[in-house]
Amino acid sequence: MENIKLNIEKAFGFVAKDRVYGYEEKANACNKKLHEGTGKGNDFLGWVNLPSSISDQFITEIETVAKGLRDKCEVVVVAGIGGSYLGAKAVINALSDGFDRLREDRENPVVVYAGNNISEDYLAELTEYLSDKQFGIINISKSGTTTETALAFRLLRTQLEHQAGKEEARKRIVAITDASKGALRKLASQEGYQTFVIPDNVGGRFSVLTLVGLLPVAVAGLNIRELLKGAVDMENLCGTETSFAGNPAALYAAVRNELYKNGKKIEILVNYHPKLHFVSEWWKQLYGESEGKENKGIFPAAVDFTTDLHSMGQWIQEGERSIFETVISVKNTNKKMEIPFDPENLDGLNFLAGKRVDEVNKMAELGTQIAHIDGGVPNLRIELPALNAYYIGQLLYFFEKACGISGYILDVNPFDQPGVEAYKKNMFALLDKPGYEEESKAIKARL
Ligand code: PA5
Repeated sequence: MENIKLNIEKAFGFVAKDRVYGYEEKANACNKKLHEGTGKGNDFLGWVNLPSSISDQFITEIETVAKGLRDKCEVVVVAGIGGSYLGAKAVINALSDGFDRLREDRENPVVVYAGNNISEDYLAELTEYLSDKQFGIINISKSGTTTETALAFRLLRTQLEHQAGKEEARKRIVAITDASKGALRKLASQEGYQTFVIPDNVGGRFSVLTLVGLLPVAVAGLNIRELLKGAVDMENLCGTETSFAGNPAALYAAVRNELYKNGKKIEILVNYHPKLHFVSEWWKQLYGESEGKENKGIFPAAVDFTTDLHSMGQWIQEGERSIFETVISVKNTNKKMEIPFDPENLDGLNFLAGKRVDEVNKMAELGTQIAHIDGGVPNLRIELPALNAYYIGQLLYFFEKACGISGYILDVNPFDQPGVEAYKKNMFALLDKPGYEEESKAIKARL
């Protein structure tokens, strides 16, 4: 079986090759720290050997729970925010037929999301959509106290109990949370919901290959065994036994740190398939929360090409030269479509007749790469042989491992997120949450 391939050759016009390969010792040492637990944040390293440690019995258990929800529900709402929903959404969108949810005769339940915003319109529209549906809820919150998720869950479970009755609602709710802490754990125990534990040593943004990602993905009818197989193979490839040059995670970590040192402060993750949009959203969280601290860190941005070539393309081609691109390139599409010949040729497209649509996409990709390099944008490329569960599994683990190594090279703790508390504190103070009396007074005095 092939692996996903990282190509960093097109960075070398911008940073010296020997400087990048000069990271060998450091990157290998950082990788070792992840495996030996001797670096910063070492109580959150459960993801490092996670793929290879998941038992067949556990996978079967996930598949059984997923089947229970699939049998009962036409819609399943995944309630969670950040690491508690992005991984699932990334995988489901990448691997599902984008139009399946519009089909009357679809085999899979529609998966929708909640608890990732506080928009009244969003929640009201969701409530309305669900009002005549047999639906279930997977409520995911590691802390069990996240306001966005807890608020959505309160609304959703009230609706479900009203529509299906308390007894049936209980059978259609699954809670994924901490082993003992948090309001969700308490609520789930009291109400008798089926509950699963997010391992203590796996942070939200590294949890896609735990039940947090795997249960929604299985509910969507996707193959979690293949996903994990890909992740296991990447875990092996990025282990400490592999040489620096043979370890894509170490190389990616090295080259992006060298680019950063040379003024490339923004990394843009690029895709050429709309299905990959949420892989980029997941990646943004992974790298943004892991590296953006102590006034350091590459700003992770993302674009969908060719769509955004007609908007952000101008900035990328000619704006401030502080960016580099990492392109996710899919070698073989799953479907084939040939462009038809038109005898009238009024649209002037007969020069494309007989070609595959993907051939046009690939030439757009190549043309863009050349144009952006000419415009001063270093280009990294990650090639997926195909867009399937196996290679998405490889990609997820590759990005996780590279993020850990990269964060250590940058000398930050990649596994904490102290900065996300600031808005919460202010919001609670403004909403007069009990326990925030002093903060309430102080913040209101500033208004
Ligand atoms: O990566 C993280 O830890 C965060 O983004 C969390 O995933 C997010 O804040 C949701 O937290 P919780 O699962 O506790 O509700």
